[in-house]
Amino acid sequence: MQSDLPFSQACENNKAPILAVLQQAFASHKNVLEVGSGTGQHAVHFAAALPHLRWQASDQAMYLPGLTERLRRAALPNLPLPLQLDISADALPQQQFDALFSANTLHIMPWPVVEQFFKRLTYLTTPQATLCIYGPFNYNGRFTSDSNRAFDASLKSRDPAMGIRDIAEVTALAGAAGFSLQQDHSMPANNRLLQFRRTAN
Ligand SMILES: C[S@@+](CC[C@H](N)C(=O)[O-])C[C@H]1O[C@@H](n2cnc3c(N)ncnc32)[C@H](O)[C@@H]1O
Repeated sequence: MQSDLPFSQACENNKAPILAVLQQAFASHKNVLEVGSGTGQHAVHFAAALPHLRWQASDQAMYLPGLTERLRRAALPNLPLPLQLDISADALPQQQFDALFSANTLHIMPWPVVEQFFKRLTYLTTPQATLCIYGPFNYNGRFTSDSNRAFDASLKSRDPAMGIRDIAEVTALAGAAGFSLQQDHSMPANNRLLQFRRTAN
């Protein structure tokens, strides 16, 4: 029973379909950095199911207490305690990772922070690294569902800098950082999982 920990029902709903993709995408990888781990439910689920990986969770300082406690209780050998990492501000870990995962973060980060996220990938990842980004995305500025349109409006009412990003714009930033889109996986509830590979730089 872990009801005293921060909890996301969305994570419970999406962790199985995301894992099904990561089992393939990260099959031959060793060290994953997760950016914006939130409650840590994904980190615990994926580290337990993918024991060949060392799963390094991270998040901004305000998320660290709950995240650290969930990971501490999980006590998995391949799940170290989380790093404090605001991708736009904090010093980067010295280690480079051959895989990077981030879920439901790009629509929360203001666009200049999204740009910074992709710029910093060069320092965070090894050549040929795989990058998996999960969340809602638009195509050519168009929402893929009414629920995503409503979600975008609710984000913008919280903070006008938030909002669902366009796949073409995200892919352009990834390309400038040396990553090319390998697969655009369709996921439940009108989400996508974008799988990139570092092919240049
Ligand atoms: C909607 S939550 C998603 C959390 C978790 N990944 C999930 O899928 O439930 C958005 C996450 O983005 C993180 N985030 C926002 N801006 C960030 C930044 N500049 N650097 C790192 N993480 C950031 C937040 O701290 C938060 O954990």
